[in-house]
Amino acid sequence: MKFADFWYIVALSKQLNSKTVLQRTILGEWLAIFRDQNGKPVALQDRCIHRNSRLSQGKLCQGKIHCPYHGWIYDQTGKVVAVPAQGEEFQITATRRTIRYDTTEQDGYVYVRLSPQPQEAFTPFRMPYYQQPGWETLRVINRFHNNVTNCAENFIDIPHTASVHPGIFRTPRQQKLEMTVERRNGSVFAQYHNETSNLGWFSRFLNRKGKEIKHIDSFHMPNITSVEYDMGKHRRLFITSQSIPETEDSTLVYTDVTFNYGIWNKLAKPFVYWTAQYIINQDIKALGIQWEVIAKYGAKFAHTPADTIHLFVESIRDRIAGGEDPRNLPHKSVRVHFWV
Ligand code: FES
Ligand SMILES: [Fe+2]
Repeated sequence: MKFADFWYIVALSKQLNSKTVLQRTILGEWLAIFRDQNGKPVALQDRCIHRNSRLSQGKLCQGKIHCPYHGWIYDQTGKVVAVPAQGEEFQITATRRTIRYDTTEQDGYVYVRLSPQPQEAFTPFRMPYYQQPGWETLRVINRFHNNVTNCAENFIDIPHTASVHPGIFRTPRQQKLEMTVERRNGSVFAQYHNETSNLGWFSRFLNRKGKEIKHIDSFHMPNITSVEYDMGKHRRLFITSQSIPETEDSTLVYTDVTFNYGIWNKLAKPFVYWTAQYIINQDIKALGIQWEVIAKYGAKFAHTPADTIHLFVESIRDRIAGGEDPRNLPHKSVRVHFWV
């Protein structure tokens, strides 16, 4: 198993119309993304085989891309279908082509997979309750100067919330939290047992009665995190993040905040949006600082029981990095407590 075997978001479906060519980087590979004549997304290596210009800088005409330098034309399979300098003598050959990658579309996202023949045909992660009746989704896209592992870990890390997001998300209170952390089948699940109303202004709005909140954080190989808050009927919230590896130190994060607040759905939307982006900006800053130190001193960490979730995530990602299947790791479940 390799990271390249999985599907990675390269665009929102609505970002890609019949005229746009997007420039993307996934796992260090440069891509030109556009739609062919039938509207199907196309991903080509962003390199013209003639004199190495960038196809993403070219023009799209009827689903074919024209290189900006000498005008070679590529079709949706990556084949060269016209060379202006050869005029009528031009002939299509099977060898004149650039690399083309598989694409698919699901839940309003365009995905690319870099492995031409993965051992296993994975499918993109299903975004929970996307466009289901009664649910609202808002999407934000943010670039983090850090790697996927540290981004994913941050999104399901409770202890940082009191210091990085004081007041808005959580208030430091030295409250004891119990959690069960489980690693199974390439996923990690953290269930919190006695979470009540320590969630900043969120809880004043969502959980006025101070009921126990069902809160589950999870990680799914190779790059998905999900945060689920369940405070009863019409009080449910999912934050699902796909951390897309651009390069070693750059991660593009697509975050879906999907909620069901009953009659408050529409009214809540701008507040939820503002809060989500505010919280993410604080995390971008914290992760940028972390990466500066990792770049200088390497990733050497010290752990407490509250970091169990990180160790599990790292064990899964390390396996894939080593070419192995993390679903073969032993099933582990531990109960830990910490203060926040
Ligand atoms: S470099 Fe692309 S056509 Fe010459
Ligand atoms: Fe955070």
